[in-house]
Amino acid sequence: MPGAIPQHFIDELLARTDIVDVIGRRVPLKKAGREFQACCPFHSEKTPSFTVSPTKQFYHCFGCGAHGTALGFLMEYDRLSFPEAVEELAASQGLEVPHEAAFAQGPDHRPLYEILEQAGKLYERQLRQHKDAPRAVDYLRGRGVSGEIAATYRLGYAPPGWDQLLSTLGSDDAHVRQLADAGLITEQDGKRYDRLRDRIIFPIRDTRGRIVGFGGRLLGDGKPKYLNSPETPVFHKGRELYGLYEARQADGHPKHLLVVEGYMDVVALAQFGILNAVATLGTATTSDHLEKLYRATPEVVFCFDGDRAGRDAAWKALQTALPLMRDGRQARFLFLPDGEDPDSLVRKIGAEAFAGEIASALPLSTYLFEQLSAQVDMQSIDGRARLGELARPLLERLPGGMFRDMMQQALHERIGLNAPVVSEPAAPQPRRRPPAQRPGGGIPPIRRAVALLVQCPDVATQELPGGWERMNAPGIELLSRLIDTVKAQPGISSAAIVERWEDAETRQLLARLAVLELGVLDDSAEQFRGTLLRLSQQQRRDECDALLSKSREEPLSREEKQRLTELLRATDA
Ligand code: UTP
Ligand code: MN
Repeated sequence: MPGAIPQHFIDELLARTDIVDVIGRRVPLKKAGREFQACCPFHSEKTPSFTVSPTKQFYHCFGCGAHGTALGFLMEYDRLSFPEAVEELAASQGLEVPHEAAFAQGPDHRPLYEILEQAGKLYERQLRQHKDAPRAVDYLRGRGVSGEIAATYRLGYAPPGWDQLLSTLGSDDAHVRQLADAGLITEQDGKRYDRLRDRIIFPIRDTRGRIVGFGGRLLGDGKPKYLNSPETPVFHKGRELYGLYEARQADGHPKHLLVVEGYMDVVALAQFGILNAVATLGTATTSDHLEKLYRATPEVVFCFDGDRAGRDAAWKALQTALPLMRDGRQARFLFLPDGEDPDSLVRKIGAEAFAGEIASALPLSTYLFEQLSAQVDMQSIDGRARLGELARPLLERLPGGMFRDMMQQALHERIGLNAPVVSEPAAPQPRRRPPAQRPGGGIPPIRRAVALLVQCPDVATQELPGGWERMNAPGIELLSRLIDTVKAQPGISSAAIVERWEDAETRQLLARLAVLELGVLDDSAEQFRGTLLRLSQQQRRDECDALLSKSREEPLSREEKQRLTELLRATDA
C-alpha cells in the first residue's frame, strides 16, 4: 500500500492539467464562446447543457447539476477513487505520483492495516479453534448464521481474557504502539488490555477489502451490547459502511443498496440471499456515506425502524441526501413495522416478502411531501401556504436539474400555486432586501464572498475588514476557514481549494460556487473587501438591534451598555 499523496502534488497536477483536454478525450466538446459544451455524460439529454470552463477549470451541467474539477470528472466518469483519479491524471501528464514515505510528514498507514489484518485473522481462527468458541458458534447458529456467511463476512471471536492480542501478536514496544494506534488495545491505569473480549467480531472493511476496524457483540445481554473500534487514522465511522465491500463482491453494479442500522441486519439479510445491504456504524448517515454509496449504485434505499427514533433518523437522512440528489440518483425510504428490524423481519416473513417491502419503499419525493403535509392543515389556504414555506428551504438544497424542477412542480400542484417557489438554483436564503441594494445580481453577500474567494483565491491575501466573523449565519464559518486556507497557502488554485475540503457536501457546494456567474471580476479583490465590509456593517446593525430590543425587556449589563454605545457610534458613522 503506497503512502498518502502529498497535497502539493495534487495542487501542482491540477495547475498543469487542462480540464478541456481531460474531458475532451472522453466526451466530444464544442466551443461556445469562452466555454465548451456537450451533451451531458451524466444524464440523458438532447440539447447540450454540459459546459466546461477553461478559465475556471471546472465543468458544470445546468441540466443535472453535476460539477467539479478534472479530478472530480475522472472520479465520476471513469468511476475511480480519488487516488486512482490522481494516478490517471498524472499518467496523462507523464508524471509519477510521489507517495509520502514513512519518514515524510504524511504518515504511512501500512503497519496499521497489517496489524488489523493480523488481528482479523486471529479472531477468525479463534471462532473455529478456541476452547470457548462453541459458545460463540452456538450464538451465531442461534441467530441463523451459517458457516458460509460467517466466512463471507469473516466473522470472528474474541475470547474472554485481557491479553490475547498482546500475547499472540507481540508485546514489544512496536507492537504495543501499533495495537494502540489501531484501537485494538486500551490503556487504563498504566495497564494495557484487549478492547474486545468475549464478543462476536465483525470486521469492518474499506472498499478495497482492507480491515479498518471491528465491531464486537456480546454473546448475551449486557452493556454495551456492541463495542466498536474508536476513530483511528484509517477508521472513520462517518465514512465507512459495514458490508459495502461484501455487497460489491457479490455484485459489482447493484441496482440498489439498502442502508440498515446494524451489523446483524446486514448478516441476516445476506443469510437470506439479500446481499446488497450495508450498515452505518452506530452513526447517522453522512454525505460521505452517500457519496460512497452513489459511486456504487444509482439507488439507495434507507431502511428505518417504524418508531419515533427511526422516523427522526429518516428525516435526518433525507436532509443529508437532498444536496446530493443529482439527476440519475435515487433515494427511497422503507419504514419497518414497529418493533422489527431487518434481521427480525426477514426471519419472520422470508426473503421474497422482504423484497416486496423494499419494492414498496417510498420515493424521496413522496416521503418529503407526506411528512410535511402531515404537519399542516392541507384543507386551508394558510396550511397550504405553510407547506410552501416548509418545503422551500428543502427544495432549495437540491442541485439544479430535472429532479428539482419536478419537485417544484409537485409542490405547486399540492399547494395550488403557479408562481415558482424556488427562484434560482440553490439560492440559500429567502431575500430580505431588494436585489438593487445588493451589488452582484442578487446573490446574498455571504454566498457571494465565498464564491469570489473560490473563483479568485488571491482576494483573501489582502488586508481584510473584521467584524463579519461574529455573525451567526450559515456560511460564516466556511468563509473564515477558506480565508485561513488561502492565507496559509497563497497561490493555491480554485480547484485545489475545492478538492481539499474533507466533507463531500461542502465540496459540492464549493464546486457549485466555483462556476457561479458573478459578472465582471476585474476588481475581484475590491469586490471581496466591499462584501466583507457590508457584512461587517450588517453584523453591527444586527448586534445593535439585538441589544436595543433586549434593553426594552431588561436592564443591560455594563459591558452590554458599553458595547451598545460603541455600536451606535459605528453604525452612525
Ligand atoms: P441495535 O441496538 O439496533 O442492535 O443497534 P441490533 O443491530 O438490532 O443488534 P442485535 O440484533 O441485538 O444484535 C444497531 C447498531 O448500533 C450500533 C451498532 O453498530 C449496531 O449494529 N450500536 C448499538 C453500538 O455501536 N453500540 C451499542 O451498544 C448498540
Ligand atoms: Mn437486531
